[in-house]
Amino acid sequence: MDEESIYKASEIIKRGGLVAFPTETVYGLGADAFNPIAVARVFEVKRRPYFDPLIVHIGDQSEINKLFKAIPYNVKRLIECFWPGPLTIVLFKKDNVPDIVTSGLQTVAVRMPRHEMALKLIKLSGTPIVGPSANSFGYLSPTTAEHVREQLGDQIDFILNGGPCEVGVESTIISFVEEKPKLLRPGGIPLEEIESILGKVEIDVNNHKNPSAPGMLPKHYAPRTPILLEWSEKSIRKYRDKKIGLLAFKDPGPLGSISPIEVLSKSGDLREAAANLFTAIRRLDQLGLDLILAEPLPEVGLGRAIMDRLRRASHKGAIN
Ligand code: TXA
Ligand code: MG
Repeated sequence: MDEESIYKASEIIKRGGLVAFPTETVYGLGADAFNPIAVARVFEVKRRPYFDPLIVHIGDQSEINKLFKAIPYNVKRLIECFWPGPLTIVLFKKDNVPDIVTSGLQTVAVRMPRHEMALKLIKLSGTPIVGPSANSFGYLSPTTAEHVREQLGDQIDFILNGGPCEVGVESTIISFVEEKPKLLRPGGIPLEEIESILGKVEIDVNNHKNPSAPGMLPKHYAPRTPILLEWSEKSIRKYRDKKIGLLAFKDPGPLGSISPIEVLSKSGDLREAAANLFTAIRRLDQLGLDLILAEPLPEVGLGRAIMDRLRRASHKGAIN
């Protein structure tokens, strides 16, 4: 691990600067969560609307006491099982958590990432760090330092390079603000695993009129090239006169020889597919295509998070 870079990054955070940092899910755009001016710069650089609150990252479980008002037993159990890891918890916030972090909500989203560099950065900075994905608002999340550099490189103070992200899709968000726990965003921890601890969890990922996670807009995580979730020889023939690219889940067989293609996991492994998702879409997005046809994946385990991102990327919004 590059100790010197982490130290440098923590000094920048302390001074109110912006540092992109690796996590197990995607790269985050970090700033001191208790410095409202630094946080305002995060919104500016991302061109993110101020109504879309940020996730606060902590380096040690005990730090939740600085952020949450009270912690129900259910939440304690989840934290024990899944932190550090790709699980974000939404609960009522303490008064000293700046309003700009939570977009004026009385609740705050918190997670402890499973990444040595991120944890060290937070600890050395001596403060929790906000971390939206380090991309321009609405575009694909970055899973390498290079992705961050391409989009935000000249607008931020430092990029901590931790190589490619292991999980590749963002954290699962669960809210405990109402009586029953609610899934706000499917992500790196499969819903099945969470339900094995909590029992049935309500799903609230498509409530577009009054989204509980304001960032879950129907059109999100989108490349410039339109994506359609269509996958057959017939579809490919239908778009014959266009420049199309293919995003396959698994070994595509004969379909693979027709157009530029990215295969997420030859063997059909959902974890491998999640880890490759955003990089594969980016590569297709750089080819100047008219259209990307994507193969639907089974909606189990990480497949749920991948399909959620593909639906949003396809501009149609999530259905499920
Ligand atoms: O994996 C991740 O969570 C990554 C890495 C960098 O940690 N971060 C990330 O942050 O995906 P971002 O800002 O791209 O997505 C945060 C989501 C948004 O949809 C936002 O609306 C929701 O979390 N959120 C934040 N605070 C909330 C709150 N108090 N109540 C409900 N939703 C909230
Ligand atoms: Mg994001």
